[in-house]
Amino acid sequence: MPNPVYILAIESSCDETSASVCVDGRILSNVIATQDVHRKYGGVVPELASRAHMEHIVPVVQAALDEANCPLASMHAVAFTQAPGLIGSLLVGAGFAKSIALSLDIPLIAVHHMQAHVLANLIGDPRPAFPFLCLTVSGGHTQIVQCNSPLDMHVLGETLDDAAGEAFDKSAKLLGLPYPGGPLIDQHARNGNPARFEFPEPQIPGLDFSFSGVKTSILYFLQDQQKRNPLFVNENLDDICASIQHRIVTILLHKLKKASLQTGIREICLSGGVAANSGLRLAFDELGKKMHWNTYIPAMQYCTDNAGMIAITGYYKYLAGDFSSLETSASARAAW
Ligand code: KG4
Ligand code: ZN
Repeated sequence: MPNPVYILAIESSCDETSASVCVDGRILSNVIATQDVHRKYGGVVPELASRAHMEHIVPVVQAALDEANCPLASMHAVAFTQAPGLIGSLLVGAGFAKSIALSLDIPLIAVHHMQAHVLANLIGDPRPAFPFLCLTVSGGHTQIVQCNSPLDMHVLGETLDDAAGEAFDKSAKLLGLPYPGGPLIDQHARNGNPARFEFPEPQIPGLDFSFSGVKTSILYFLQDQQKRNPLFVNENLDDICASIQHRIVTILLHKLKKASLQTGIREICLSGGVAANSGLRLAFDELGKKMHWNTYIPAMQYCTDNAGMIAITGYYKYLAGDFSSLETSASARAAW
């Protein structure tokens, strides 16, 4: 085993092209190129995403190496996001990683994107003790995962329909806010009254989530109010946003609390882009204090899609000798 171990990691599962270098699990660089091209379409356009990855991947990898002050030749392994994600996007990162592994004759490490979101909590200090629970919430995912050791984790619950970020974005769209509307709902909610309007909490058994009923109830509520007052949304935007945010946050935290009570685990983490939501952060903190949890949220650059989390996962896989052959392919969906 080389000492120290240098790993180059690539993330390209959706609309962020990212590369990172880590040494013995310590992140030296985490470069992220965001694709603004999708904004005007109101969502990620897969074909445009893969084309943008092709444009970004060489400069992003080079920037990650430069920032870490490490030449490509000093890498001991290359890790990449294998699944899940947009297949055209994943293939760009996978192809690039394989070509580096082949040309440098170093191991290739395939990483599951959702496991990486969980292990983002092991970047920096303080870090959770094992076993811990992680609620991953983003535009594409909503999951509660129990993590027993870096490479031993399982899903306790996940969304049956929309992801939490989608619930924010689709609600924002109903309010006429531009994509991605999650951060705008957050902004308006800061000045609003979360108890002003009541949206129902879905009664889903176990630890799974559902957001489609909330979305429908918001749609009918707005249609009904606008029939009576066409200016209803404009006149009440802050309160509507605060009430929507309150419901999404309570759905998430009720299940997280249930997971903690069921497993007896009180090391609790949050990850994913929705972890930026100020209402969620505040309520997570308050619930944590009430439940005597130790709570953790990675730095924001490691919450949204990033290669730093792929690098740390790649590092643990490297230690375990968990390498992939060059025939390994990317996959839009993958068993956990
Ligand atoms: O992790 P992420 O950057 O990308 C993936 O989806 O993988 O998450 C983006 C999602 C979007 O749905 C966005 O609206 C939501 O996170 N989001 C927020 C906030 N910031 C980002 N939702 C609510 N409040 C925020 N402050
Ligand atoms: Zn993600």
